[in-house]
Amino acid sequence: SPGALVLGIETSCDETGIGIVRGTELLANVIASSMDEHARYGGVVPEIAARAHLEALEPTIHEALRVAGVELAELDAVAVTSGPGLAGALMVGVGAAKALALSLEKPLYAVNHLVGHVGADVLNHEPLVGDGELELPTIALLVSGGHTSLLYVRDLVSDVELLGETIDDAAGEAFDKVARLLGLPYPGGPEIDRVAASGDPTAIRFPRGLTASKDQERHRYDFSFSGLKTAVARHVEAARAAGEEVPVADVAASFREAVVDVLLTKALAACVELGVPRLLLGGGVIANRRLREVAIERCADAGVALRIPPLALCTDNGAMIAALAAQRIAAGYPPSELGFGADSTLPV
Ligand code: KG4
Ligand code: ZN
Repeated sequence: SPGALVLGIETSCDETGIGIVRGTELLANVIASSMDEHARYGGVVPEIAARAHLEALEPTIHEALRVAGVELAELDAVAVTSGPGLAGALMVGVGAAKALALSLEKPLYAVNHLVGHVGADVLNHEPLVGDGELELPTIALLVSGGHTSLLYVRDLVSDVELLGETIDDAAGEAFDKVARLLGLPYPGGPEIDRVAASGDPTAIRFPRGLTASKDQERHRYDFSFSGLKTAVARHVEAARAAGEEVPVADVAASFREAVVDVLLTKALAACVELGVPRLLLGGGVIANRRLREVAIERCADAGVALRIPPLALCTDNGAMIAALAAQRIAAGYPPSELGFGADSTLPV
């Protein structure tokens, strides 16, 4: 069977994402970002994001329908991210999804954003790394400006467990903040990646958060990047106080190395300790070249099969939300009750 025709709405952060899928077939993945409007604040401003979603939703939905070549009336279901994310931003998407589902008299599926990131990988496409279909169980590491989470995925629609997450900044947020300290523009991730290319990653030994033995019991699979950010700030201040030029390339390379190291150390520890020889990466920080390079190396060494979906499906998008709902429909799950709301801290 071709599967259900689903339109997915994603508004948990600064991307208005509308995706249309038919089962596991990707028909459209259209994104309007308010990134530029946040640039001068050095980070996503929740109220600006919410207002931008409100303005972008209608034209983005129409663009997705045009790309997919389908009419609203043909849809089998509507899906929407109900959390986690920015409360106001989520509310705009949830409200729009409910209005659409009610007016079309179609079922509505509320989708968890993090599980959606994993769901993106069932869409037929050429993965960036890996081949064939997504195999389960898998460990999934999701790293973006809004989250840094390690998941144990046994079944996409019924059995996803959160192993750990950041206890302070998200990895992408750390990239953005450190870029700012170094005088680089927002978003900082791509800038650090660019500048780090000419730096020495072993120049400065920055701390690896929550890897000390005292943290192993309570925070085995959790992450922390605020200490790393503070260490970078101290290094930069010390150089300036001494009247020296800040070694921007070395700082960027050493910082990037610390983030990549701790992300992959924890993800691979989960694979080994839980006996799951598969690792899926998702989220916007996967755009980081060093992260992908080290992931490929270390997974090969550990005998872990690495999977990275194409970048357009790694960053926040509506197709992953639609894909997950289509999986739920295929598995015979009922739609969500319309009473659900946006939940900024929705658990997996
Ligand atoms: O998933 P995403 O597009 O959106 C949200 O977080 O909502 O991720 C954006 C984040 C930003 O923090 C950005 O700095 C980071 O991903 N990022 C990167 C790179 N490209 C984007 N971080 C490190 N290296 C990169 N090349
Ligand atoms: Zn995300």
